[in-house]
Amino acid sequence: MRVGVLTGGGDCPGLNAVIRAVTKSLINHGQCEVLGIADGFEGLMGAQPRVKSLSWDEVSGILHIGGTILGTSNSANPLRDAATLEQVGRNVQQLGLDVVVAIGGDGTMSLAHGLAQVGLQCVGVPKTIDNDIASCERSFGFDTAVATVTESLRRIESTAMSHHRVMIVETMGRHAGWLALESGIAGAADIILLPEIDYDLKSIIKVCKDREERQRYTIICIGEGAKESGQSLTVRERIEHSPDPVRLGGVGHVLRERLQPHLKSEVRTTVLGHVQRGGDPTPYDRVLATQFGHHAAQLVLSGQLGHMVTLQYGRIGSVAIADVANTQRTVPLDSPLLSMARDIGICLGEV
Ligand code: F6P
Repeated sequence: MRVGVLTGGGDCPGLNAVIRAVTKSLINHGQCEVLGIADGFEGLMGAQPRVKSLSWDEVSGILHIGGTILGTSNSANPLRDAATLEQVGRNVQQLGLDVVVAIGGDGTMSLAHGLAQVGLQCVGVPKTIDNDIASCERSFGFDTAVATVTESLRRIESTAMSHHRVMIVETMGRHAGWLALESGIAGAADIILLPEIDYDLKSIIKVCKDREERQRYTIICIGEGAKESGQSLTVRERIEHSPDPVRLGGVGHVLRERLQPHLKSEVRTTVLGHVQRGGDPTPYDRVLATQFGHHAAQLVLSGQLGHMVTLQYGRIGSVAIADVANTQRTVPLDSPLLSMARDIGICLGEV
């Protein structure tokens, strides 16, 4: 069998661990030939496909390294028009690819699903620091990102205490609040604001004022998709034809401007940005990514094409890509994490 492997969408820690596990499993047990596709689906879109053979040695020594040795793209869209789609179909035929293991987020899964129309069969592996892929309760990369944000919150706290400031820390996560929520809890944030709960400015002002009198500093952790009740989403930029056309970011600054006039303390914002996606994966993410890569190889070898690896109730399994394409897993409003946060006095920006 000839199997392509690609990484699509934003990178995240653990991608190399998947590439390593899927390649080694296929070579070891399946006597497959594995081709690494450069820069996500972009590597299949040009007149000359960009691929390289992946040998055992090629994928050795990369388990612990962040990023992806294959490169990635979160703007390449092979479904953008008929000509591009046909070119991808020709490339797949010319390369003799039986299946492509597509490691990516919901955008990549939607593309993988759409490419079935030109005869490209995919097996999906969910990745994202946002932890927002349906049927996957933990995507690799998330644990590493939570650790990075938590560490950052600790660092912000010591300077916030010294200067008696209100410090706003903006996290990534798109339209899901997992990263802000779990990091905020782990990093002892006083206020956590999520895309799932529109915040009420007055409640935030109240908590900050109370703390001005007592602790004299406040830490606010806000997910980039959060917004004030009655206001619209803060969009940083729009990218035409991209499977992920809206880039978020800037909510921390928006909140600072709204909050400052009401408080004595100085309000400052830190946007953590891409430090959250970079760096080497934690041991947890290395193990999870290796399990996902191994399971993807099993799906290929057992002919379960068109499926994505999943993690549900702590068990690795799979689901049809068609069932998860174009869906997102956000924080449910009845999540026990939310009620626990309220019970221990964390403000979620609710009235
Ligand atoms: O989906 C992963 C992610 O890091 C999001 O949390 C974030 O909104 C987005 O990618 C940022 O993408 P870019 O690197 O293109 O700015």
